[in-house]
Amino acid sequence: MLTENQLRAVLGSRPFRFYPQVDSTNDLAQAWLIEGAPQGAAVIADEQMAGRGRKGRVWHTPPGVAIAVSVILSPSPEAIGQVTMIGAVAIAEALEALGAPKIGIKWANDVLLNGKKVSGVLSEAVWQGDQLRGVILGMGINVRVQFDGTDLADSAISVETALKRPIDRAELLGHVLNRVDAWTQQGGVFEAWRDRLVTIGQWVRVTQDDRVIEGQAQGVEESGALRIETADGLQRVFAGDLHLGG
Ligand code: BTN
Repeated sequence: MLTENQLRAVLGSRPFRFYPQVDSTNDLAQAWLIEGAPQGAAVIADEQMAGRGRKGRVWHTPPGVAIAVSVILSPSPEAIGQVTMIGAVAIAEALEALGAPKIGIKWANDVLLNGKKVSGVLSEAVWQGDQLRGVILGMGINVRVQFDGTDLADSAISVETALKRPIDRAELLGHVLNRVDAWTQQGGVFEAWRDRLVTIGQWVRVTQDDRVIEGQAQGVEESGALRIETADGLQRVFAGDLHLGG
């Protein structure tokens, strides 16, 4: 299990709260934000009982095998869309630093390792009236989650499975958070995100609640929108589940 001491050694002076077991780190980070948490503060859990994924899905974080972290950020309202980009790029960079060879990002923010999802990012903006209090950047990384023999075996992967060696979760987390800090301070994450997208040029199908958009992915916009050339012309897509190859 991760321990407070292990995390303190890696995270230095960063304010953080560690819990062996929580429902969702995003919920606790949101509560801490309202209490007045500083920018960059992190909520970390060893296990999540009700981890949230995109579109209300469940995100599994079994004990001892994954990273579940939520970072409290204070972007301007115009930069909210870049928070998930920062998460995906930071994770991709940290995995590359471990020597992972085939890292890419599948629009919008799934980090792929050997073509399978190794990590998910869920950012949630917290408003009070029309005032932005902050944004919670939630990141889940499969470090040694066992997918063999499960429904997810074809689509999900763990870092240790790909690298075939043990990975120190605290160190990986420290690296990810350092990269989050760097992109938050320096800006310009859009280009780094765009350059890592495996989606561009490919035939794609994006499923939304009430429609499906199919065509060739032409590029992305700074807002994060995906431009798809369809039989009916160019469409700008802001959200949805993307399947590569149509
Ligand atoms: C996705 O659906 O791909 C996004 C998954 C995001 C999971 C992370 S784990 C830490 C944080 N807490 C949550 O409840 N969700 C995010």
